[in-house]
Amino acid sequence: MRLLEVLGEGHRLLKPALWRMGTVMRAPQLFTCLSGCRSSLLTRSKNSTNVPPKLDVALCLAPFLSHLLTAIAQLLHIQIALMMRHLPGTSSKRTLREAVTSVSRTSNRRSLDEEKLKLLNKVLMETLGALGAQCRWAACNIYSTLNEVAAALAENGFPVFAWKGESEDDFWWCIDRCVNVEGWQPNMILDDGGDLTHWIYKKYPNMFKKIKGIVEESVTGVHRLYQLSKAGKLCVPAMNVNDSVTKQKFDNLYCCRESILDGLKRTTDMMFGGKQVVVCGYGEVGKGCCAALKAMGSIVYVTEIDPICALQACMDGFRLVKLNEVIRQVDIVITCTGNKNVVTREHLDRMKNSCIVCNMGHSNTEIDVASLRTPELTWERVRSQVDHVIWPDGKRIVLLAEGRLLNLSCSTVPTFVLSITATTQALALIELYNAPEGRYKQDVYLLPKKMDEYVASLHLPTFDAHLTELTDEQAKYLGLNKNGPFKPNYYRY
Ligand SMILES: NC(=O)c1ccc[n+]([C@@H]2O[C@H](COP(=O)([O-])OP(=O)(O)OC[C@H]3O[C@@H](n4cnc5c(N)ncnc54)[C@H](O)[C@@H]3O)[C@@H](O)[C@H]2O)c1
Repeated sequence: MRLLEVLGEGHRLLKPALWRMGTVMRAPQLFTCLSGCRSSLLTRSKNSTNVPPKLDVALCLAPFLSHLLTAIAQLLHIQIALMMRHLPGTSSKRTLREAVTSVSRTSNRRSLDEEKLKLLNKVLMETLGALGAQCRWAACNIYSTLNEVAAALAENGFPVFAWKGESEDDFWWCIDRCVNVEGWQPNMILDDGGDLTHWIYKKYPNMFKKIKGIVEESVTGVHRLYQLSKAGKLCVPAMNVNDSVTKQKFDNLYCCRESILDGLKRTTDMMFGGKQVVVCGYGEVGKGCCAALKAMGSIVYVTEIDPICALQACMDGFRLVKLNEVIRQVDIVITCTGNKNVVTREHLDRMKNSCIVCNMGHSNTEIDVASLRTPELTWERVRSQVDHVIWPDGKRIVLLAEGRLLNLSCSTVPTFVLSITATTQALALIELYNAPEGRYKQDVYLLPKKMDEYVASLHLPTFDAHLTELTDEQAKYLGLNKNGPFKPNYYRY
C-alpha cells in the first residue's frame, strides 16, 4: 500500500460499489512533487490555502517545469512497468480479479463489476482509484518519499503532499493539506505510524462522523490505536494490518532482512564481515536485521527487554547483552524496538570512534538525536543522509538518516514485499468499508485469516510453488475446511 497511497481521479472511471469511498492514505515509500517544484508549491499553497490541492499541484507546474515533470514521470512509468513483475498481488489482472471476487465472497457483500476489474491491472494505487476511491496522499516519513513516483502520480491527477526531505513543519503542513480541503471528506484512513489519525483526532474530530474505519500498518500506529481503544476514545473500527501475518512476517522480517544491508551499504560502503554489531530489539525487524548481518559474517549482539524474544535470540546463536556492556566495542548500533531513548546521550558519548548509529524502528526517538545538538558537538554532513557528529576530542560517530528509518530513508524496499503489504491493506480497506453494520465496533481488529491466506496464495505463483492440497480424509482428520483457513487465530507461524 506504500504503492498506493493517493487516490484521485479513479472516481471518473467508476460509479458503483466503492464510488463514495474517499480514502486518506499515507505511504512511506512513494512520492510527491518534484523537488524542483517544492518551493513554488509551498509558496503557492501556503498563500492560497483555499485552493484545492490538486489545483495546487497544477499551479506550481509552470510550463517549463511541466515538461520536466512529464519526462520524469515517464521514466517512472518505465520503472513501474519493471516493478510490476514483482507485484503479483496488485498488478496482475488475473490475481486482482480473483482477489476482489474473493473479498466479495468472503464478506458476502456486493461484488465489483467487470468494468472495474478491467482497470485492476496496474499498481495498487491505480487499483484503489479504479475501485472508486478518491485518494489523497501525504507521506508518513520526511525522507521516504520517492519524488519521481510522486511526480508520476501528480501527473495523473492524484493530489499528493510529500517530497523527500521535508522539514517537520512541512510534514504536518502536508498532512493538513491532505485532509483539510473544501468539498472533500475522507471516509477511510490508511495510515502508517498513526500521525494522520492523530492529526484528525486533534484538529478535525468531526471528520470521524463520516469515517468508516482506519487501516493502520505500523507497530507504532497500532500501539496508539490500542491505547485509544483502551481509553475508550477510539471512535471508529480499526484494522491492525501490522499484525496480519502477511504483513508482519514479510514487511517487518523479510523486508528488513534485505534492506538493512542495502541501507548500510549505500550510506557507508562498509564491509560487514567481522564487524561487531549490536541490534536493540529482537522482534520481527530485529530478527531480520540480525539474520542478514550474521549471514554476512558480522558478530551480532542483541539487547531485549522481553525474556521470550531474548531466549529466541539466544537460541538463534546471538549473544544477549545490555547495551552498556558492548557500547564501547561495537562498530554498528541498530535500534529496532519501536521504543524511545533506547540509545541515550550517555551511550553515544561512550561509543568508539567511527561507530555507525542507525535506526530501523518507526520513530526517530529510539536514538536520542536531540541530545547531540549541543554547542560542544560539531555536525558535518558527509553525504546525503550521513552525518558525522564530532566530539571535542576528535571522536566522531556516523549517524545515518538523523536517526530515522534507515531502510526507508536510504535504500529501496523490495517491491515484492510491497505487493504483499499493499494487497493486505487493500483487502483490509475493502473489508472495513463493506462490512455490514455491527460487524466491527469501535475497536481494533485483525484481518480475517482467510484473507491473509489469500494474499499469500496470490504471491505463490511467482516462485512456481506447488501447494499441496488436503485430501478429504486429511481435512476430516484435522477438522479443517479444504479451502482454509488452515490455522487457528492463535497460531504464531
Ligand atoms: N524499517 C522498516 O521497514 C520497518 C518495517 C516494519 C516495522 N518497522 C518498525 O520497527 C519497529 C519494530 O517493529 P517489530 O515488528 O520488530 O516490533 P516487535 O514488537 O516485534 O519488536 C520490538 C522488540 O523490541 C523490544 N524492545 C522494546 N523496548 C526495548 C528496549 N528498550 N531495549 C531492547 N529491546 C526493546 C520488544 O520487547 C520487542 O521484542 C516498530 O517501530 C515498527 O513500526 C520498521
